[in-house]
Amino acid sequence: DWTMAEFRKTKIEEIRAQVGSGKVICGLSGGVDSAVAAVLIHEAIGDQLTCVFVDHGLMRMGEAEQVVGLFRNHYNIPLIHKDVSALFLGGLAGVTDPEAKRKFIGKTFIDVFEEEAKGIGGAEFLAQGTLYPDVIESVSFTGGPSVTIKSHHNVGGLPERMNMQLVEPLRELFKDEVRELGRELGLPDIFVGRHPFPGPGLAIRIPGEVTRERCDVLRKADLIYLEEIRNAGLYDAIWQAFAVLLPVRTVGVMGDGRTYDNVCALRAVTSTDGMTADIYPFDAAFLSRVATRIINEVKGINRVVYDYTSKPPGTIEWE
Ligand code: XMP
Repeated sequence: DWTMAEFRKTKIEEIRAQVGSGKVICGLSGGVDSAVAAVLIHEAIGDQLTCVFVDHGLMRMGEAEQVVGLFRNHYNIPLIHKDVSALFLGGLAGVTDPEAKRKFIGKTFIDVFEEEAKGIGGAEFLAQGTLYPDVIESVSFTGGPSVTIKSHHNVGGLPERMNMQLVEPLRELFKDEVRELGRELGLPDIFVGRHPFPGPGLAIRIPGEVTRERCDVLRKADLIYLEEIRNAGLYDAIWQAFAVLLPVRTVGVMGDGRTYDNVCALRAVTSTDGMTADIYPFDAAFLSRVATRIINEVKGINRVVYDYTSKPPGTIEWE
């Protein structure tokens, strides 16, 4: 019988056998996958592992602080926290094409990561939290020949460029199994249960140009939405829920005045692996409560809409 406790033991042996006395670096994204991979590898080889958190400033509210707190204080895992939000936001100025955003973010991420890796000095191994669906989706996509729908992989090309070998202990697992392994490793619930978050972060939830101001507006709306979802006890029933800040302004009324502000779209889907998804059927009272709070509490948004598109034909993210 196959259990997570056995998987953990087997993987630890495999990691030790692969790595020997070598050094490993692991990029943390703030998500479940890289966190679980890092904690598992640390259990196997201790401080031969160094984690690098490239903080692009495109995270949700409070998440960067949570990552640093968990790794440094809770697990005592060596962590380099590199705040490069100015570099990322500077480079995103004027960029509106979704693939151009991804390419810039992916490339800049690699540049920063490579620089930090050099600083550590001669790591032969690169750890990644690659899951089974990532392995499949990067090869083909359901319903078509090898068409690239979105260029997903954040550190693609890095191992070759840096002449490193990959350590990918989660390659056989689906998301729910990674969560189970995370629990087995004692990761706090707030991490283990967290919805997936894309590598390019909020940049692909802000169609059009990404600015620090727009990121701040989106973070506030997103926080309210997720807070209401948690309060309603719905967080764990949903695969991903997030707000999108549209580059569209519409007219509204507030008190005696006319407003002309941005539209915010809300998305929530159920899924088992992210490859297909259904919309989450909130009741009208819930959506209305969230919309009212966002419009009242977030300066810059005066209209909220709900996205009813399943995947396919839509994708989960808007870009
Ligand atoms: P889509 O939008 O393609 O997303 O339906 C499927 C899943 O992948 C996540 N996603 C990404 N993850 N880099 C990532 O690491 C990306 O560029 C990226 N784009 C989408 C998305 O959040 C969903 O879970």
